[in-house]
Amino acid sequence: MIQIEKLRKTYRARGRTVTAVDGVDLRVREGEIFGVLGRSGAGKSTLLRCVNLLERPDSGRVVVDGRDLSTLSGAQLRAARQRIGMIHQHFGLLSSRTVAGNVAFPLEVMGVPRRERARRVAELLELVGLAEHAGAYPAQISGGQKQRVGIARALAGRPRVLLSDEATSALDPQTTGSILELLRGLNRELGLTILLITHEMEVVKRICDAAAIMRDGRLTESGPLAELLTRPGSELAAGLFPLPESGAVRPGTTVADVTFVGEAADRPFVSTLARTYAVDVNILGGAVEQVGDLRVGRLRIELPGDPDANAAQLAHLREAGLTVEVHGRDTALEGTS
Ligand SMILES: Nc1ncnc2c1ncn2[C@@H]1O[C@H](COP(=O)(O)OP(=O)(O)O)[C@@H](O)[C@H]1O
Ligand SMILES: [Mg+2]
Repeated sequence: MIQIEKLRKTYRARGRTVTAVDGVDLRVREGEIFGVLGRSGAGKSTLLRCVNLLERPDSGRVVVDGRDLSTLSGAQLRAARQRIGMIHQHFGLLSSRTVAGNVAFPLEVMGVPRRERARRVAELLELVGLAEHAGAYPAQISGGQKQRVGIARALAGRPRVLLSDEATSALDPQTTGSILELLRGLNRELGLTILLITHEMEVVKRICDAAAIMRDGRLTESGPLAELLTRPGSELAAGLFPLPESGAVRPGTTVADVTFVGEAADRPFVSTLARTYAVDVNILGGAVEQVGDLRVGRLRIELPGDPDANAAQLAHLREAGLTVEVHGRDTALEGTS
């Protein structure tokens, strides 16, 4: 649905060149919620603005719904943009217009006749749960309600794709939850493809099917959530399960981080391991989380004996579908699931 290839965007500011997006490849499948996670300044907003050509990339391609946006000219581009909705952190509502007036605005710009416009506004407000607030002004509603107006407005042109730039960053955790629920519902009911950017792990955890991590203009990892979380050395897994700094491994022991996703999370691997090999498994830390529809967990375990002595035990865990990263060596090389 969204295909980004070798995208590059630089800015010149005060004689200095800033490379905001530095060769990004990204694919968002139809009907998917894709999250790009990264710190401030990583290039996330620039990437998003290149997807609807609010920003012209220096090079690379952006194909949305089968159309290469860079080949489109004025009117075609405007039409294509209508099929891409966008929501923002600070809502961007017109304070002089009511809730209904704000949602009507893009429809006016599109030249939708008055009667149809009124019908469509009512439909959109119903969709985002704001029917009762149609006559209120932005100053009279809460942040969460403002974002609902932003979402209704973004959906006015019946877009296939919604871009979200930190849409929940200005909201408290509870309101964030309700907006994420709304986005998930729209994704399911309308088949809306959503590309969202965020600096909050929570957002990715709650609603994303796939994700990427962006740093210094590049994606450092990218893929379906279940796959990312089980990839050895996964930054996403490390962010989701902040285990203590891996201290020195006690001599004569093996310390390993074991990540389990989906079905593998439902099997009691610790007790099976302990029983099968008659070893004492020491649990040093860990957690289990619900990530979208998946149960994901990570445990740091300690076994008696060095890693060579535990070869069979470690192989047993990997055969059970778990990702195992052994400490005290080059863990990135060690871990294969
Ligand atoms: N219009 C601009 N002019 C100059 N530099 C910019 C502009 N927009 C963004 N940048 C720079 O590009 C980099 C990425 O910014 P941005 O895409 O806003 O990151 P993020 O959304 O991840 O915080 C930053 O170093 C920022 O200062
Ligand atoms: Mg930003």
